[in-house]
Amino acid sequence: MAIQEKLTSSDINGVKRPMGEATTFPTIAYTDPEIFRAEVDRIFLKSWVPVGRWDRFKNSGDFITLKIGDEPLLVVKDEAGKIRAYSNVCRHRASPVEVGKQGNSTSFTCPYHRWSFDLDGKLRAASFMESPTWAEYKDNCKLPEFRVEEWNGFVFVNFDKEAAPLAPQLTKLTEHLEPFRMHEWVEFPLEWAQDWKVPVNWKAALENFSEAYHHIGPHATTAEPFLPAKMARYYDCGNDAAAYFHMPTFDGNPVTELIAPSHVPEHLQNFYGVFNIYPLLNALWAPGFIVPTWIYPISETETSLSFSIAVSPEAMALPDFKEQMQNVADVLKSILLEDVDVFLGLNSAYTSRFYEPGRLSYQELPVNVLQRFVLRHLGL
Ligand code: FES
Ligand SMILES: [Fe+2]
Repeated sequence: MAIQEKLTSSDINGVKRPMGEATTFPTIAYTDPEIFRAEVDRIFLKSWVPVGRWDRFKNSGDFITLKIGDEPLLVVKDEAGKIRAYSNVCRHRASPVEVGKQGNSTSFTCPYHRWSFDLDGKLRAASFMESPTWAEYKDNCKLPEFRVEEWNGFVFVNFDKEAAPLAPQLTKLTEHLEPFRMHEWVEFPLEWAQDWKVPVNWKAALENFSEAYHHIGPHATTAEPFLPAKMARYYDCGNDAAAYFHMPTFDGNPVTELIAPSHVPEHLQNFYGVFNIYPLLNALWAPGFIVPTWIYPISETETSLSFSIAVSPEAMALPDFKEQMQNVADVLKSILLEDVDVFLGLNSAYTSRFYEPGRLSYQELPVNVLQRFVLRHLGL
């Protein structure tokens, strides 16, 4: 069945109505394997997807591997200091070339028959391949390479050679975040929050982190008292590339002592917020730190989530920095576990035949922007 028959014109028109009348996706959008397949092909292979922060690639040879949809990817800083992204599939018989999750290496050797590749993706050496045409074959043998763009310290990859550059699509958000100088902020992965496999579609995971409306529900005693839903203000970016919202704190004071760096103007010192860069980047931002959610879709009903805290160099110099980070992590832990309960609930209810798309609050603008982004890429 074509996806046009699964997402009906009434479903599509509902999403496209102005906020105040817009409705959400039907549950099939969160459970159907064919829709997920189409999203992999038309969204994840055509859009700018986040692969890490800049400081995962400080030195030449620093690399990470990951999978976007079903595409194995190897991202590395080359000898000239440029971050480059390759297909992590050996040019010999298609084994993964690099099997480590991250590390530093001067070349990559496939574990199967030990063909090795330089940091520029070219085949360096292979055993037992002598033949009259080998030299010419070898000279042209290279891992497929993809485009890389860095924005505010986030490294993005795009598999599509024709895709429009990312930064020009984010001008409003870039201007807005400029005073924070996030490109300098250094990331600390939260050890206990890596590769959580949650039993929901990637859109449900991203949507959950895209609004403060649910603070009054699962976070009523954790986030809501200091970041109340009623004070949140939502903004689009004039297109469907990004959306963000602000959450001033209840009493105007920062939530933690990890205070904003001195270069952040005073009127922004108590501003918390969240920004999304579609389809996959979500980040909570506070005056002195950000919490990126690394979202990687596994299947139509499973998503990998990892969390980290990136902080300003000034915050790192605080005498009680470690203690402050622990405080932030403790608060985050209780909130994120409440979100996991939300995912378990959605998973048990998305199977219903009787749900009809519900109306969205003005507080769910970033949810609506995501759904419009998805429809546009699916050609609906
Ligand atoms: S598959 Fe990589 S060397 Fe054979
Ligand atoms: Fe939440």
